[in-house]
Amino acid sequence: MDKQRVALVTGGMGGLGEAICIKLAALGHTVATTYSPGNTKAQEWVAAMKARGYAFHAYACDVADWNSSVECVQKIGAELGPVDVLVNNAGITRDMTFKKMDRVNWDAVLHTNLDSVFNVSKQVCDGMVDRGWGRIINISSVNGQKGAFGQTNYSAAKAGMHGFTKALSLEVARKGVTVNTISPGYIGTKMVMAIPKEVLDSKIIPQIPMGRLGKPEEVAGLVAYLASEEAAFVTGANIAINGGQHMQ
Ligand code: CAA
Ligand code: NAP
Repeated sequence: MDKQRVALVTGGMGGLGEAICIKLAALGHTVATTYSPGNTKAQEWVAAMKARGYAFHAYACDVADWNSSVECVQKIGAELGPVDVLVNNAGITRDMTFKKMDRVNWDAVLHTNLDSVFNVSKQVCDGMVDRGWGRIINISSVNGQKGAFGQTNYSAAKAGMHGFTKALSLEVARKGVTVNTISPGYIGTKMVMAIPKEVLDSKIIPQIPMGRLGKPEEVAGLVAYLASEEAAFVTGANIAINGGQHMQ
């Protein structure tokens, strides 16, 4: 069995993040997660998870904000110990055609989906290098690989995440720290349920060779693998998990 680690999953109260928290906890890791400072349901979520047998440690953090990320990870370090596994999962969409795209919606997506990767990874990476072990797992998207209608902001941010992965993985490759990207296709969470139903049914599902949305647990299993000792030789990779969509 793998050594028990401290794992931090950003945005763990959403669909994918929650499944990742559950999987890592089931493997015996101590799991910290973040929620947006305005999220009034956070304590309710912690209590509901506790009732299901999961003792998650939840911290308010705006991952788009540097100071908030510094404070959050310092608090986790003081309360739980240094972070060995970081899953940069928090993310948002603000879909609109480029014609309608304004600065506010461009910035919101770039700050939350890409700057966040810098803001949070920066707090944990040096410590991982010093201890000679670490895992940074960035949750990107198939739409960062192939682009998507209405997502110039999101596709740019998600492609940028993988550029970050490739560069940082080179810098820490000899230090026992791996950095990888996972690029999920369409997974049945509230982010995908926000797509107009007619667009989902007519434009998106038909593009998925398996003919269905993915499940958060399917992505969580891949995160667990990348976080494991077994995955020590995997770094700088971008692993697709999308029902065959990348073949099109
Ligand atoms: N592919 C091709 N054409 C599309 C399309 C698509 N995916 N989505 C919309 N269109 C077309 C429409 O059919 C329509 O065409 P006509 O003018 O010829 O009728 C035209 O674009 C305008 O469509 P709308 O009337 O819907 O325009 P809108 O301005 O109201 O909305 C939109 C545009 C915001 C892009 C909306 O269509 C939409 O939300 N599309 C879905 C975007 C999407 O796929 N987001 C993924 C979210 S999930 C996610 O991001 C997770 C992940 O990582 C995989
Ligand atoms: P979701 O249910 O909407 O969850 C998103 C999570 O991000 C929430 O927990 C949210 O926390 C958090 N978050 C958003 N802004 C934040 C901020 N500024 N600071 C801290 N946390 C913030 O979405 P999901 O589908 O689970 O997506 C999770 C990740 O997977 C995202 O990065 C997404 O882009 C990626 N992804 C999803 C799919 C898919 O099909 N669903 C596919 C590919 C990639 P609060 O609720 O507290 O705000």
